[in-house]
Amino acid sequence: MGLVIRNGTIVTAVDQYVSDVFCEDGVIKAIGKNLDVPAGTQVVDGSGQYVFPGGIDAHTHMELPFMGTTSSDDFYTGTAAGVAGGTTTIIDFIIPGRNQNLLEARDFWMNNAKKAVSDYAFHMAVTWFSDQVKKDMEHVYRHDGIQSFKIFMAYRGAIGVDDVELVQVLDTAHSLGALVTSHCEHGDAVVALQTRLAGSGKLEPKHHAMSRPAYLEGEATNRVIQLARVASDGRNGHMSTASEAQPVYIVHLTCKESMDAVYRARAEGQRVLVETCPQYLLLDDSVYEKPDFEGAAYVMSPPIRPKGHQEYLWNAISTGAIQHVATDLCPFTMQQKAAGKDDFRKIPNGAAGIENRMNLLYSYGVAKKRITLQQYVDVTSTQAAKIFGLYPKKGAIAVGSDADLVLYDPKGTSKISAKTHHQRVDRNIFEGFELEGKVATTVVNGRVQWQDGDLRVERGAGRYLKRC
Ligand code: URP
Ligand code: ZN
Ligand code: ZN
Repeated sequence: MGLVIRNGTIVTAVDQYVSDVFCEDGVIKAIGKNLDVPAGTQVVDGSGQYVFPGGIDAHTHMELPFMGTTSSDDFYTGTAAGVAGGTTTIIDFIIPGRNQNLLEARDFWMNNAKKAVSDYAFHMAVTWFSDQVKKDMEHVYRHDGIQSFKIFMAYRGAIGVDDVELVQVLDTAHSLGALVTSHCEHGDAVVALQTRLAGSGKLEPKHHAMSRPAYLEGEATNRVIQLARVASDGRNGHMSTASEAQPVYIVHLTCKESMDAVYRARAEGQRVLVETCPQYLLLDDSVYEKPDFEGAAYVMSPPIRPKGHQEYLWNAISTGAIQHVATDLCPFTMQQKAAGKDDFRKIPNGAAGIENRMNLLYSYGVAKKRITLQQYVDVTSTQAAKIFGLYPKKGAIAVGSDADLVLYDPKGTSKISAKTHHQRVDRNIFEGFELEGKVATTVVNGRVQWQDGDLRVERGAGRYLKRC
């Protein structure tokens, strides 16, 4: 059965107009006023509502084995919560353990993801390097449609790489034409600070943030940007220009120091893409002062920054310097967080957010006039689709695109609460945040999966998106 949305205000990254949208067989078949549709077509009234492309969250960690436990949302609960919040596509990370075979890790993640309710793609993390890893990078790039590789400059001794490995990954990706995404923090320096703090009995959640200052993120951001030039230098017997460097995408950028490194490189002509997350736009480090271990809910890496960085990042979004706002979803319950009750180094790092991202960006971006509706669409879906090879199947409202759509009702207000969210976690780091408007309806591959608080997702309905 087809579906028609009547009289919605269609908003894309470049457009805004009132129209009908007709969807059939999971794709958009027609856009226009007063469309004639086959008898039996389901009708959704879109009047007074915005119609956005379904949200894309290019940074999630569903059921990630991490720091001795596993993130609490699996591919089913996490993608379902995403649909309730208007996100219809995720790009998750396959993260092999150090010395683990990449293809073995790929099989593990591909199998877990079969329960997703909406479409998904993968980035491949490279956590160590060898001739076999190089071959496997080539394999997943050419045969599995995994075209972005991730390196962690943090988490030394676990999944973090050293500079030699970092250069090898950049080099291999460059030969393939793949994108490298990077978690930027100076891993060894973080360990040194952690050890010093712990040695003087500073073991609370707030000391997690103290052990990971913004300057160490800025240093690592600058370093990966500079090392990206090594990947192209000397290849044809000559030194390359900055514009020939390996492109890098900085994940969950949090601070002025990192943004400034990006601005410098871009001024030289280097291709550097940037992602941030709602928590780095909307929270400040006072969250770590909460009593009774509640600060642990905010323990993530990089940490929430002091006041000032947030407006700097909003400004970077509004001027187009930040391309995507993802969540870095990696939730842990307070029971899981309690592993670090006596030592912040053992608190599993991460938080939820997929259910709130679209709503928060609308409320604190569009409604507060920090960004336009078109910029909203751009940073919540279109740019991610373009950067990661999913456009115009995803991130667009066009004939032939997948029928992933969000009807956003700008009227009314509500409040975020862990008591009512669908994410499988007992704290919401945005608890009490006021929201403007709501995700009224989410259409996934042509079917209404969320409407007025009713979640009708289907386990396993999501498809793997092989990128090319
Ligand atoms: O604290 C975080 N961000 N946990 C998830 C893993 C990562 O670094 O992205
Ligand atoms: Zn990270
Ligand atoms: Zn992450």
